[in-house]
Amino acid sequence: MTNSNKLKIIYATQSGSAQEVAERLSREIYNQIGLANSVVDIENYDFKSLLPNEKSVVFVVSTQGHGDVPDTMKTFWSFLLIRSLPSNALAGLKFAVLGLGDSSYTTFNFASKKLNQRLLSLGAHQLVRRGDADDQHDLGIDYEVEKWTKEIIDQLTTIYPIDPSFTPIDRLKLQPSKYIIKYNDDGGDITTTNNNQQQQQQQYKSTILIKNKRITNNEWTQDVRHLEIDIHNTDLKYNSGDVAYILPKNSASLVDELINYLELDQDLLIYDIQPRNSDTTQKPLNIRYPVSVRELLTCYFDISGSPKRYFFELLQFFVTEESHKERLQYFSSSEGQDDLRIYNQKELRNYIDVIKEFKCGAIPLDYLFDLISPIKARPFSISSSPLVHPNCVHVTVGLVKYTTPLRKLTRMGLCSRWFQTMECGTEILMYIKASGAKPPSSLATPLIMVGPGTGCAIFRSFIQERDFKLSQLQAEQQQAKRQSKIGDSLFYFGNRYSEMDYLYQEEFEHYRDVGHLTKLSVCFSREQQDRKHYVQDLMKLDSQLIWRLLEDGACFYISGSSGRMPKDVRQQLLTIIKEGMVSSGFYTSNESGGDTKDLDQLANDYLVKLEKDKRYTTETW
Ligand code: 2AM
Repeated sequence: MTNSNKLKIIYATQSGSAQEVAERLSREIYNQIGLANSVVDIENYDFKSLLPNEKSVVFVVSTQGHGDVPDTMKTFWSFLLIRSLPSNALAGLKFAVLGLGDSSYTTFNFASKKLNQRLLSLGAHQLVRRGDADDQHDLGIDYEVEKWTKEIIDQLTTIYPIDPSFTPIDRLKLQPSKYIIKYNDDGGDITTTNNNQQQQQQQYKSTILIKNKRITNNEWTQDVRHLEIDIHNTDLKYNSGDVAYILPKNSASLVDELINYLELDQDLLIYDIQPRNSDTTQKPLNIRYPVSVRELLTCYFDISGSPKRYFFELLQFFVTEESHKERLQYFSSSEGQDDLRIYNQKELRNYIDVIKEFKCGAIPLDYLFDLISPIKARPFSISSSPLVHPNCVHVTVGLVKYTTPLRKLTRMGLCSRWFQTMECGTEILMYIKASGAKPPSSLATPLIMVGPGTGCAIFRSFIQERDFKLSQLQAEQQQAKRQSKIGDSLFYFGNRYSEMDYLYQEEFEHYRDVGHLTKLSVCFSREQQDRKHYVQDLMKLDSQLIWRLLEDGACFYISGSSGRMPKDVRQQLLTIIKEGMVSSGFYTSNESGGDTKDLDQLANDYLVKLEKDKRYTTETW
């Protein structure tokens, strides 16, 4: 076993963000204090032999929707949880944890919190406070990442004294690109990709779009699509509640724009792309070789994404005008951060906007990998049940369209733009994963679903599944002449106008009419004169019923946009629980010699218990 003195930065990522942050951290540490370090994917890390002998490790860990560790971290996490590990197993290790998450989930940064706690309990020494980067922050995860980077670098200098001969990397000098592109086919190194990378590349399956239908009124501003995707030629299987991860492509016009602007040869074939330093960098994922330059720009680079700070730092080497160079240097300095945010995030500029505005002409293709992030798969709740549609996955997508604040340009999200004009027969690369939400296994369990807007998608799957099972059961019972207990199912749906965006109206009303959905409650927020009516108002009308079903073991689900809705619905549920506790004599006030805890606390405990028992689940985005 070798004792590694070198700092390791280990990332655990689901969608790639933690990798990006880890690479950035690695660069900053090297550039600022000259500390050599290596970035490692937790999936490829030989923790059993290495971790106990490591001097210091920084973990960058994202959290899955329901507080789980990313898939790539599961084996590592199980290892750390082994009970027989002595409490000083990691006594020689110094560590720091930076969590990436989304505070609209109650399980915000759970994976990093659990990891931090467990490392401490195994005797490891914590270098700095745990970082909690939040997607919901006005400035995104960058805000905390930058603050935390400063803190960890300060601490690292205490254990790795700066070499007196070190001079911080000259940010004014262009460093070599991270990848080397091979334009000729000389037998290729393609097979040298390690197994884990191969697996990641293969996880996407090639599926085919077979239906693309708008399900909001044509006169309505919001375009919501019902897509059906054929999976029968793949080994994909799914369960109700699962999520489809779809890898979108850039639109042809955007690709044309970049190719023309950078004067690239679109037909040039690339046979392989290898990291310059395989210790610190992974081969780029999800590229099928040989690949033409055009295909690479279409499928790999997120050219309509929002540029990161490092992009501005690097871009200075590809501009010709001195004033542009100075501005980019300012944008990549600490003092320029506020102005960069205004220029970049507030005005929603994308990579192409910036490349054009700074008149960058000749950017070599290999540097595009350093400059532009790869396209990430977008998650969509599956809106069909596998019992009804075993060979087909349905997704329900609200197309995202926005106007940039100052320049008033109309823009669409990458996936939205792709879906808007997508024709049947188009290939869609996709993989499927379980979410934390699945319907109760027994039909006897009551089911309460709150899903305004496209939040209804997952519940369409739940209700389809229930309808299928109930029809089957009824047929069986008719034969056997017996009755089994069926739990109630309630669905709360809301949108803006019944004439415009009552999604899947006919289907939901059909399930209600045949009695397989016990109650369908709908409201439309912009139809009332007095005030907006939301799903939580509908819940209020059913307070007693909801309480009774909860007491009867109901599972409660919220799905939808992660703005205020999930918090407001949770608040309404707490009120319902409080009223229920009082009316059922569950709670008596202290004055009458009853409970000492206050009612708020008791209701909160009740809800936390529901959550723990997986009877309260949120699926938001
Ligand atoms: P609004 O846009 O008229 O405010 C789906 O987006 C539906 O959810 C819309 O009718 C939207 O109403 C509504 N909505 C917005 N904020 C909400 C909140 N805090 N709670 C519940 N529903 C909300």
